[in-house]
Amino acid sequence: MLAIPEVPRLTHPPRLLFLYGSLRKRSYSRLLAEEAARIVTDLGAEVRIFDPTDLPLCDAVPADHPKVVELRALSEWSEGQVWSSPEKHGTITGIIKNQIDWIPLNVGAVRPTQGRTLAVMQVSGGSQSFNAVNALRILGRWMRMFTIPNQSSVAKAYEQFEEDGRMKDSSYRDRLVDVMEELFKFTILLRDHREFLNDRHSERRELSAQLAAEAARKATE
Ligand SMILES: Cc1cc2nc3c(=O)[nH]c(=O)nc-3n(C[C@H](O)[C@H](O)[C@H](O)COP(=O)(O)O)c2cc1C
Repeated sequence: MLAIPEVPRLTHPPRLLFLYGSLRKRSYSRLLAEEAARIVTDLGAEVRIFDPTDLPLCDAVPADHPKVVELRALSEWSEGQVWSSPEKHGTITGIIKNQIDWIPLNVGAVRPTQGRTLAVMQVSGGSQSFNAVNALRILGRWMRMFTIPNQSSVAKAYEQFEEDGRMKDSSYRDRLVDVMEELFKFTILLRDHREFLNDRHSERRELSAQLAAEAARKATE
């Protein structure tokens, strides 16, 4: 039987990385991410927001570019993430996708996204839609993250923020608080067991085959 291992409970504030998908000066996907970051900081999380300005297109430069190094280090640091994208032409923007494309699934034993929690959010110019959050959920699965059930989709986002960038009091903001509370809870529940959750039969099998091949090669040297 698979037993949950006894591991010490982590007690530091949950570490959450926020990504957003626009370079506009007044970007509502950024304002939504910033509002969510304030909410979850009040709940007790430690937050970092990555600025995608000047992040080159994926593979256009070597991976030692400072913005790429910064993004990968933040992803590795994180225990949970929030991805906030505009809906454009019925899906996520290239700007959010480019950030995710720069994050490898694994580099040796380092897995910058696997086993982390994820909350997905979108802003739209039109009526309420779920195309971008649905696309982000697919990406979350691809990056082997635990995407929480609740999500935020803000319609007519240009009506939902004050001049100073704070979100107006509304049912959208109430939903945002719900999403951040849920992310906080899932993150503290799951982070202690990341190794257990990432441990897979197929990968153990692959590793033992590699070790056996290596041993056989050494024996013939
Ligand atoms: C090229 C383009 C395509 C868009 N496509 C959609 C769309 O498919 N659905 C929608 O509701 N809004 C659409 N919008 C509106 C954007 O979602 C809205 O302007 C949003 O606030 C942009 O995000 P940002 O404020 O973070 O830059 C589109 C806007 C542009 C410029």
